[in-house]
Amino acid sequence: MRIAIDGPAAAGKTTLARSLAEKLGYLFVPTGAMYRAAALAKKRGMAPEKVCIEVREGGRILLEGEDVTELLENSDLDELSSQVAVDGRVRRHLVALQRQIAQGRQVVMEGRDIGTVVLPDADLKIFLWAEPEERARRRLAERGGDFQEILAAIHRRDERDSTRKDSPLRPAPDAVILDTTGLSREQVLTVALELVEERRAKLAR
Ligand code: DC
Repeated sequence: MRIAIDGPAAAGKTTLARSLAEKLGYLFVPTGAMYRAAALAKKRGMAPEKVCIEVREGGRILLEGEDVTELLENSDLDELSSQVAVDGRVRRHLVALQRQIAQGRQVVMEGRDIGTVVLPDADLKIFLWAEPEERARRRLAERGGDFQEILAAIHRRDERDSTRKDSPLRPAPDAVILDTTGLSREQVLTVALELVEERRAKLAR
C-alpha cells in the first residue's frame, strides 16, 4: 500500500507518518525534510535543483552522501525551505526523486502535494489539519520560543504553501480530512490505523 499524508505546517504529519510506517513496517518518507535539505544545500552555496538527496531507513536524510538529519529541524530552515519550495525546478527535481523512492515499495509519504501530485494514485490519502493556534502550541512545546512569533511564522508558511502557483497545498478530492484539534498523538494514530484497515479491506474485496 502507498499512503499519502498531507497538511499544513506543524499539523503532526511527520509524527503520524513515522509511527504509522513503524507499525506497518513500511518505508517512512518525510518530503518536508527533503525540501529542508534542499534549503540547506542552498545555504551552503549548492544548486538545490540538482543536489543528491537520499532517504534512508527511519526517514534519515543524506545530502550529497552526508547524513544531515539532525540539522534539518532548525527554525531558519522552516522559512527557507518554504521559499525554496516555490521554485518549480526544485519541485520537479524532488518530485522525481520522491516517485522513484515510492516505486514498487510500501510507503508512508508525508508532505504538501503527495496526494495531489507526487502519488495521485496512492491507496490512502489523509489530509491532516489542526487550527493554527493548536499547531503553534505544539511547536512551542517541542522547540520553545515565543508563541506569537511561532503563530505568525505558521500563518506566513500556510499562506505561501497554499497560494504558490506550482502544486499548492490543498486536499486531494479523494483525501480523508482528519482534524486533529484537541486529539493526542495516540488518538490520531488510532484513527489513521482504522483508515488503513478499512482501505485494506476494500482493496482485498
Ligand atoms: O513539512 P515541513 O515543515 O518540514 O516542510 C518544509 C517546507 O517544505 C514547507 O513549508 C513547504 C515545503 N514542502 C513542500 O512544498 N512540499 C512538500 N511535499 C513538503 C514540504
